[in-house]
Amino acid sequence: MITLGIDIGGSGIKGAPVDTDKGEMLKERYRVLTPQPATPKAIAGGVKEIVKHFGWKERIGIGFPAAIRRGIAVTAANVDPSWIGTDAKALFEEATHCKVNVVNDADAAGMAEMRFGAGKGAVGVTLMITVGTGIGTALFQNGELVPNTELGHIEIRGKEAERRASDAARQRKDLSWEAWGERFDEYLLTLEKLLWPDLMIIGGGVSKYFDRFASVLTVQTPITPAKLLNEAGIIGAGVAGLHQPVGKA
Ligand code: BGC
Repeated sequence: MITLGIDIGGSGIKGAPVDTDKGEMLKERYRVLTPQPATPKAIAGGVKEIVKHFGWKERIGIGFPAAIRRGIAVTAANVDPSWIGTDAKALFEEATHCKVNVVNDADAAGMAEMRFGAGKGAVGVTLMITVGTGIGTALFQNGELVPNTELGHIEIRGKEAERRASDAARQRKDLSWEAWGERFDEYLLTLEKLLWPDLMIIGGGVSKYFDRFASVLTVQTPITPAKLLNEAGIIGAGVAGLHQPVGKA
């Protein structure tokens, strides 16, 4: 099936039509800047622009950077706080006049990697960690998603992990890949001792620089960069577009 996958991030909103059987984008992605402040109305405007660009009228899947239960945003770490309690599904359906499913952005990227990328065929517990403006996580048992894990917010040295080890933190502090990699490793070691996964997949913007920091990682868990790199968010959102919302209202 073909859906429109849209990945909403802290700095950009990106979308493309997705072949959900092959896990491929069918056209070059279209990107608009995430409006600031990133209020529901402003982000709906960005989503509308993407839908208009592709002249889209079919199903849409959206990855959004918050925990999402039955289409409703229940957190808002890197978007405007007014998102909390907002029915994102209803808002985007009204803005686009299309059928929409909204899921957490890291869950979307994780779904794409499990189906088409680095997690294909993985058994046991897989943890995908998406590193961008924030840190998102997606947890799988034998390929089955446990939605809405928010493990970017665990505390390390008294600070939220994503404040110390996100890509935004690396850029803000102008850290070398090695120096950032050491912070990231400390975070991964904490996740390892809490979850003991069988595989860790690193996604988001940093995944294409994996070779630059891999040598400083000391976790025992097998660890691999995402295969779909930054496209996982859009492809996974496209796959989510096939489904109905999950989670308790
Ligand atoms: C949010 C998560 C999101 C992650 C990556 C975090 O700040 O709480 O929901 O998955 O950023 O965008």
